[in-house]
This record gives sequence, C-alpha cells and structure tokens, in this order.
Amino acid sequence: MTAQVTFEPASVVRAEAGGFGAVITHDDFDALVAQPGFADALVGLLAKHLVIRIDAPPFQAASLAAIAARLGPPSVNRGPRLPGFDALIQFESAGKPDADPQKDRDAAQILHHDSAGLAEPPAYAIVNTKTHPGEPALHSWIDMQAVYRDLPATLKRTIDPLRCVHPTYPEVVSAGVHRDLKDLPADIRETGPDHPLVVRNPNTGEPTLFLSVRRDAKILGMEAAESRALLTELWDIVEASPRRWRSLVRGDDIFIWDNIATVHDRPPFSAREPRKVWFANLAPVVPQAAFAA
Ligand SMILES: [Fe+2]
Repeated sequence: MTAQVTFEPASVVRAEAGGFGAVITHDDFDALVAQPGFADALVGLLAKHLVIRIDAPPFQAASLAAIAARLGPPSVNRGPRLPGFDALIQFESAGKPDADPQKDRDAAQILHHDSAGLAEPPAYAIVNTKTHPGEPALHSWIDMQAVYRDLPATLKRTIDPLRCVHPTYPEVVSAGVHRDLKDLPADIRETGPDHPLVVRNPNTGEPTLFLSVRRDAKILGMEAAESRALLTELWDIVEASPRRWRSLVRGDDIFIWDNIATVHDRPPFSAREPRKVWFANLAPVVPQAAFAA
C-alpha cells in the first residue's frame, strides 16, 4: 500500500515580502486542484497571506468551481453564470473599436470590499482574468487587519464600538461616481445594512477594519459631518498604507482573496480590447463585531 500523496504548499508557493500576498506557480491547475489536500491548504494559505495569485495556463471551469465550493456557497450578487456552474460568473465582451477611454477610466474601481452593502457580504472573492490589458495595469489589495493593528490606540478606542451603514447606489465603487458624487441622496445614505467598523475576521479571528466605500456613509449615532470626517480620516490612512500588495493583470491568472480582511481596487481596462473574466463571491457571512460594543 502506498501512502497518500497530499499537497505540500512549500513546493509551489512563494510568499511576498512581508507575508501579505502569495503566488502559486504551476503549469497544470487541473492537476493541482486534483491533489488531495490542495483546497484545504488554500484556505490555510488565505488565512496566512489574505491574497493568493495562482499563475495557471488555461484550465477546466470545474477545477475553479471545486475551489469555489470549498470556500463556501455563492453570494447573491447578479451576473451571468457560466453555464453549468452556479458559483461562477462570466463577463465577456468583444472589443469595441470606438469605445471612449474616459469611460474606461471612470469604470475603474476604487478600494472596496465586494458587496459590503449586503447583509451578508462574501468572505471570499475569486477573479480569473483570461485576457490582459494592452496597457500594463495593476490590481492592488490593502491588508485591513494590519491597517487596524497599526492605528493609534485612541483611534481604535473610538471606532471599536461603532457601526456604519453600507448604502447601495449604482456603480458605487467606480472611480467616476467617487469623483462626481460627493453626497449621496439622504434617503440612500441612511438605507442599507449596518456593519461593525471593526469586524472579527471569521477565517483568521483577527480584528479587521471594515469600511463603507462611501466617505459620506452614516455611522450610527453620529452627525453627518462627524461621520464623514471619521470615515475620511480612516480612508486616508488606508489609501496611504504601506500594507499594500500590487500585482500586474497579466491574463491567465487567478486571484483569490479574503474579502473581509482586505480591500481591493480594479484598474482601468480598455473597452476597445476583448475581455473575458470568471468571477465569484463566496461564503456570505454576517460580520461580527471584533469587540463588544
Ligand atoms: Fe471588487
């Protein structure tokens, strides 16, 4: 009888400097996923590194679906499903030669947690870009556990018991809306689930900052100006944070990340170029306060 061979992360994983972000390189993703223990090891790697990039040549959708199934049930977000795969959304567009480059820049996304406006935001996200932009473009993630750890003690004491409304608005995470819409309509600003500003990450047990993408979002119990000043202060800290991992969008790469413990952006992608992406939001979870209010 031969011993069962189980996945050994050290054979294919390269951690980024500082440990935030790691890269798995393998020439056969289907074979990698078929290895006993790989999907379980991936969950452990996500707890340790928060973002994993897997450099993989073209592979079977069933392999990505197997990873998605291990991470949790799909989130309720809309999007055309890849036929036969309930968890995988496929965006595909042919290049439009006359597309307006300014619209591409406006459609890029500022730092955000995916679907934070849901009562149960996804704990994980997957993006698999099949194509890559002609202009080099960088994805970035910020480690919100580390940002929280680094905050001054007085600021931690202020935010630890607070909760913030996460309003829903069309294209709320886009660079265009962020630039042009300085104030949400009052009824929208006050509508949506409220989540703790400091959440206990279900996958790591660590406290993590969990911010509404809108600086004018309502913090419960605060006047609008006070809310905006505090959220602006926190976002300024996040945007300037060195706890950032950047990675080029090169095509044929799979990004999997902890959506509670990180925020991410999306670089511009020219609509003149063809684009194909598989995407998933997984493991809906009610965010729990890291500290008793
Ligand atoms: Fe996103």
